[in-house]
Amino acid sequence: MIKHEVFEKNSITLLVAALIVVSIGGLIEITPLFFLESTIEKVKGVRPYSPLELAGRNIYIREGCYTCHSQQVRSLRDEVERYGPYSLAAESMYDHPFQWGSKRTGPDLARVGGKYSDEWHRDHLIAPRSLVPESIMPGYPFLQTTPLKYADIQAHLEANEIVGVPYDKDMIENAMADLKAQVDPDGNYDDLLARYPKAQVRDFDGNPAMISEMDALIAYLQMLGTLVDFSTFEAEKNIR
Ligand code: HEC
Repeated sequence: MIKHEVFEKNSITLLVAALIVVSIGGLIEITPLFFLESTIEKVKGVRPYSPLELAGRNIYIREGCYTCHSQQVRSLRDEVERYGPYSLAAESMYDHPFQWGSKRTGPDLARVGGKYSDEWHRDHLIAPRSLVPESIMPGYPFLQTTPLKYADIQAHLEANEIVGVPYDKDMIENAMADLKAQVDPDGNYDDLLARYPKAQVRDFDGNPAMISEMDALIAYLQMLGTLVDFSTFEAEKNIR
């Protein structure tokens, strides 16, 4: 009784004590997640972004695509039926920052890779209503005519490496060569594929004369959700 008085008569003491108690609870919940091996299960196929995909991802963030699009298929039946297998934690483990999003004005994009042709994406990004008349998505025609700035691509890989993405020395040194190789199907892209399995090599924007921002963004969109082979992936069945 008497001991309680200290807290009950002094709001600051009560506040400090409450904070201490709450943070102990919080720490007990959160700390183990940083050490448990199983927090993010290892999944076959997940790899860091290729330099071109990473450049496309930067454009996705710059243009604020995440303000209308999420990248997380939740484990609910209606989502799985519409978008495909629910997202695994491992699929966004190399995302800094992650693009799960909090708003779906447009559809989820976590599995949009391979859903449409490159031409569809190009036309849609230039003028969404030319393909989907009721669309409220803004057009981004300038992506097709703006050369991609990739002189600093190596630094982008290095920055990701600092926050834990396993880009090795080889990947960082060859960042610029790999970026160029991915848009040149007539060149030699064996090294690119060895470093980034399943990387798609094409002239994504249909203009071989220039590496445009459109090339990078479409390369990124076309790889989303394609790394894990769900015909062989086995996880607990936890769809509600
Ligand atoms: C103002 C909200 C808004 C913004 C910003 C936006 N979108 Fe969209 N997006 C939509 C809507 C709504 C649709 C559905 C209609 C359509 O297909 O155009 C859509 C559809 C799409 C689709 C087709 C998805 C599917 O499965 O059919 C892709 C791909 C896409 N957007 C990519 C992008 C990219 C990349 C950006 C950024 C450069 C972007 N969007 C910015 C609203 C937006």
